[in-house]
Amino acid sequence: MLTVLRSDLILGIETSCDETAAAVLRGQRTILSNVVASQVPVHRRYGGVVPELASRQHILSIGTVIQEALDVAGVTPRDLGGIAVTYGPGLVGSLLIGISAAKAMAFAEDLPLAAVNHHEGHIRSLFIEHEAIPFPAVVLMVSGGDTSLYLLRSEEEIRALAHTRDDAAGEAYDKVAKLLGLGYPGGPIIDRLARGGNPRAVPFTRPRMSDGSLDFSFSGLKTAVLRYVQEHRLSETGGTGTVECHHPQSNPGTTDLTTAGGGGIAEPPVETLPTKVLDLIASFQETLVRYLVDRTLSAVRLHQARAIGMSGGVACNSRLREAMRQAGESAGIPVFHPSPVLTTDNAAMIASTGYLHLTAGRIADISLSADPSARL
Ligand code: KG4
Repeated sequence: MLTVLRSDLILGIETSCDETAAAVLRGQRTILSNVVASQVPVHRRYGGVVPELASRQHILSIGTVIQEALDVAGVTPRDLGGIAVTYGPGLVGSLLIGISAAKAMAFAEDLPLAAVNHHEGHIRSLFIEHEAIPFPAVVLMVSGGDTSLYLLRSEEEIRALAHTRDDAAGEAYDKVAKLLGLGYPGGPIIDRLARGGNPRAVPFTRPRMSDGSLDFSFSGLKTAVLRYVQEHRLSETGGTGTVECHHPQSNPGTTDLTTAGGGGIAEPPVETLPTKVLDLIASFQETLVRYLVDRTLSAVRLHQARAIGMSGGVACNSRLREAMRQAGESAGIPVFHPSPVLTTDNAAMIASTGYLHLTAGRIADISLSADPSARL
């Protein structure tokens, strides 16, 4: 059943891991504000996200971030037509803070509430800037919390083709960076440092699925890097006690309310790293990128897709974008990805997805709770 909203202004709220984010969109595509308070400085010293610290930081930031999103958009809660919030997957404590804020506002302002799956948000982020993606399309969702392939026969019809069976690609980036003491989050650092190394120096084997499925696995590659590091005495491993979900870099173009302070591990300049380490980093990245691209192309062939989409934090990776662009060119199909501001975690993608749910009548009730392991 279709729903007529009081207005087409949607407030999106995203707190699934270590970013407190709020955005106001007009309809599915017009971004009026997009505010992100990244907690990277808080978690950096631990080399990963500490769930308890993430929850506390969300509590401190959520009010300011929502207010900023409304102010930048020039609207008040009375002007809104609905609220969309991420219900999962993610860290339960972090999710609950966004959900509680969304429910309180929806109740106080008598607004309909949409429950948005974080991964659906990432996939739909593609459509905010690209209106005419040909279908069927294969979408590689590649972030710190998941690595999956989806088949979209239309904008509404999303089918999962493959998931990771262990780590996510972003997690592999972050863990390898931590192992080498490179800093946090690892993805953007390795992306930059890999340019100084030889991608063919260390011949890592590309992961394979013995059952022929399109699923991903990154633990073997991660272990191979660990063995190489140990054999060549390149570094000490870091501590534990942190989790991997998503560790975004700050996004140009977004209102950035990133938490100040924290200190911790600084990123080493490329010229201070031994050639062997740079070669290892470049070889790790090349193996991972080739693997992601090959798997995506297999899905394209299997389903005769007419377009490729990429979303999630790792889709910011310069080598992955380049390799996927080349692959798309040789397959004769276009490759789409959101601009960086919409690639890592943000609330614009949640508001955009929420708008579709609300107008289609998919309205969450006040009993909505977090689902830390929600799947599409
Ligand atoms: O999508 P995202 O912000 O959070 C999740 O939903 O998981 O993704 C964060 C992940 C982190 O693992 C981070 O290291 C990785 O994306 N990442 C990158 C790059 N920028 C962020 N990985 C490789 N290259 C990048 N340029």
